[in-house]
Amino acid sequence: MFKSIENCNNVNDFRNLAKQKLPSPIFHYIDGAADDESTYKRNTLAYDDCDLVPNVLAGVNKIDMTTTILGQKLDMPIYCAPTALQRLFHHEGEIGVGKAAEKFGTMFGVSSLGTASIEEIAKQISSPKLFQLYVHKDQGLNKSLIESCKEFKFDALAVTVDTAVGGNRERDLKTGFTIPMNLSFKSFISFISHPSWAYNYFTKPKWELSNLKKHISEGTNVMTSVGDYFTKMLDNSLDWKGIETINKHWGGQFALKGIMSVEDAKKAIDVGASAIMLSNHGGRQLDGSRSPFDQLSEIVDAVGDKIDVICEGGIRRGTHILKALSLGAKACSGGRMYLYALAVGGQKGVERALGNLKREIERDMILMGVSSIDQLSKKNIKFR
Ligand code: LAC
Repeated sequence: MFKSIENCNNVNDFRNLAKQKLPSPIFHYIDGAADDESTYKRNTLAYDDCDLVPNVLAGVNKIDMTTTILGQKLDMPIYCAPTALQRLFHHEGEIGVGKAAEKFGTMFGVSSLGTASIEEIAKQISSPKLFQLYVHKDQGLNKSLIESCKEFKFDALAVTVDTAVGGNRERDLKTGFTIPMNLSFKSFISFISHPSWAYNYFTKPKWELSNLKKHISEGTNVMTSVGDYFTKMLDNSLDWKGIETINKHWGGQFALKGIMSVEDAKKAIDVGASAIMLSNHGGRQLDGSRSPFDQLSEIVDAVGDKIDVICEGGIRRGTHILKALSLGAKACSGGRMYLYALAVGGQKGVERALGNLKREIERDMILMGVSSIDQLSKKNIKFR
């Protein structure tokens, strides 16, 4: 049966459609995670271990779901987390995602491994923009990325801290996924069975890692797996001192992405971060690590009054967001929740995905009897 983005009412609908539309190595790159993918699964399942407890007859007829993180007011409490390689999934890539985020008044994250330049994005997208920094061994590259973010007035910088080495992504090993795409006989078969993806990939502007290509050939002209890229190119000697130096150089709103322990959350405050993203990289790095939602309460109790705590990963429903907000997260973010939609329909797909979530949050807040998200608290949630 033919399905279009209008028939996609939730993340899973988009996932099913993306599976049909994308060459399989690309679908499995987005969809896959590390080892047995148990952390990936847990990230979503964790939300089922507790239930929302509504208060009825609250007379709620107007919803305010705005929140402020990293000094940015967002019209909804979820934003598009920075994710890599977007023009591989759909030719509109980062610009499409950014424009969709702009329509919904929410933040949009740009990966160091993005496929549109910082300048191009800044010129086209006016909503809050977060740049995700992978700290490379090449210090000149790190400096130039930060300088570009300053020059083009990105609103916040987030350093990812869970990639000291590449995760063991066995689906990628099996499909032979590389950047740029490996044009083997096997992938050729996959391309001809997905002609509309192949047409766009080969006729639109050449695929590249736009912000890295001047410094690094890997990923743009020299083929590599993402796991090998992390291991080879990223600075695995990075420590808290290094983070402090980066923050000083940046001098703006600063976040650490991939914090999972109370100890590290406290250190994030010490190095001057204004937000932390509780994240295990969508289960793509350390399989067997705890889910952000499972860890949320402990971290909010320890540092929630001093730093914005953002719950990232596994979000599939508005109720997941309400549960995280009830435990004290200031906002949520996600990658796959909009990436399947990007793959399926570019900007329009992402708009539909964000619209679905927005409608769910609105409906769920009314049913919970709260008119603004600061009315949600631990009282609204019960663990089984
Ligand atoms: C990933 C990176 C690039 O594949 O964020 O997880």
